[in-house]
Amino acid sequence: MKILSVVGARPNFMKIAPFIRAIEKHNHENGGGIQHILVHTGQHYDVRMSEAFFTSLGIPDPDINLEIGSGSHAEQIGYTMVAFEKVLLEQKPDWVVVVGDVNATLSCSVIAKKLNIKLCHIEAGLRSGDMTMPEEINRLVTDRLSDLLLTPDTLSSENLRKEGTPEEKIHFVGNIMIDTLEANREKSGHLQLENIIKENLVAGCINPKRSPVDFSYALITLHRPSNVDTEEVFIPLINFFLNEVIKDQLLIWPIHPRARKQLIKLGLWNNVINNPSLILLEPVGYLEMVRLNMGAKIMLTDSGGLQEECCVLGTPCLTLRWNTERPVTLRENGGASVLVGNNIERIRKEYLHTLTLNRLSFRPDLWDGHTADRIVEILIETDKSLKD
Ligand code: UD1
Repeated sequence: MKILSVVGARPNFMKIAPFIRAIEKHNHENGGGIQHILVHTGQHYDVRMSEAFFTSLGIPDPDINLEIGSGSHAEQIGYTMVAFEKVLLEQKPDWVVVVGDVNATLSCSVIAKKLNIKLCHIEAGLRSGDMTMPEEINRLVTDRLSDLLLTPDTLSSENLRKEGTPEEKIHFVGNIMIDTLEANREKSGHLQLENIIKENLVAGCINPKRSPVDFSYALITLHRPSNVDTEEVFIPLINFFLNEVIKDQLLIWPIHPRARKQLIKLGLWNNVINNPSLILLEPVGYLEMVRLNMGAKIMLTDSGGLQEECCVLGTPCLTLRWNTERPVTLRENGGASVLVGNNIERIRKEYLHTLTLNRLSFRPDLWDGHTADRIVEILIETDKSLKD
């Protein structure tokens, strides 16, 4: 069986690493059987947003890089489709495997189906119900086209059933991100906070006077267009971080390129880098992020993956969104996260309450570190049954 899998942006890399390892394990135990080709669309291209993850997670170099880079959604999706069609015509895989919900996921799914190649989606069935999110459109299209839909939790399987997906296509396999977390958390635990800061501090950021080793800290990440791109939303958030969060503790912020561009555009860059309690970092590697998460008093984020990691690591998390495609991680379902949107009063209220909470780890069903093995097994069985 020949499988071609696709990655494009940062959150894809943690999902593909265990899948590739499970294929290698299968081939090792069975004397071969699966030929695997890895395609990187190049949507994320900085060393810190891409290459560093390949190195630290032990992902082999991509066999093919489409080098698509930045652009509007139409540009990213269109250029990826044109380049990916050529790859598929040449490689002729039995299966295309896509992960997550980024533009690469959508583009490659459409082209695989146009060429009548079987499509498998890892992390299927997530729904925020918010059609203004580019990721929601990507999920809906990808799931509608997929032959095999592998879900991280039973709520996602239920979403697919409600949409009329045939039962035989849906398999609840667990969360592959947690395979990566379990494989690396011990290594992450040995990293020193001072070294992470020294090695990743943004140039020009004044050296923090206090150290997160001695003081509690909040960890912040922001990258969604809905928080970053609109001035009326972004500026109050920054003011809340700089005027209120900082009163209680240090603030560590590994900054996404989108947020960095916006801070510079709005003339806020100097305020941020000159604040002695704000430790602004370049985008950090996977191991470093897990370490920062493990030590944080509280997380403030709009990332879906971090919501999941907080859930298993037990870090109290304010999710800066009005909805989530990952309800299993919410406090009301046993998780560590609470939705606060981008209304400052609501954020403040939940922030003050959350500061009083202790860490509490929660592990949803099948978030056990063995999802990738189940995926490889199901792919082999499905391929066999479709050929019989
Ligand atoms: C993308 C995904 C999102 C995912 C996120 C994680 C889509 C629709 N969105 O959003 O689901 O959660 O990645 O980061 O696919 N940039 C760089 N260097 C890079 C990458 C990006 O400078 O290596 C800049 C780009 O020029 C662009 C901005 O960052 O202006 C945003 O990048 P983009 O690829 O549009 O998507 P993300 O916001 O990262």
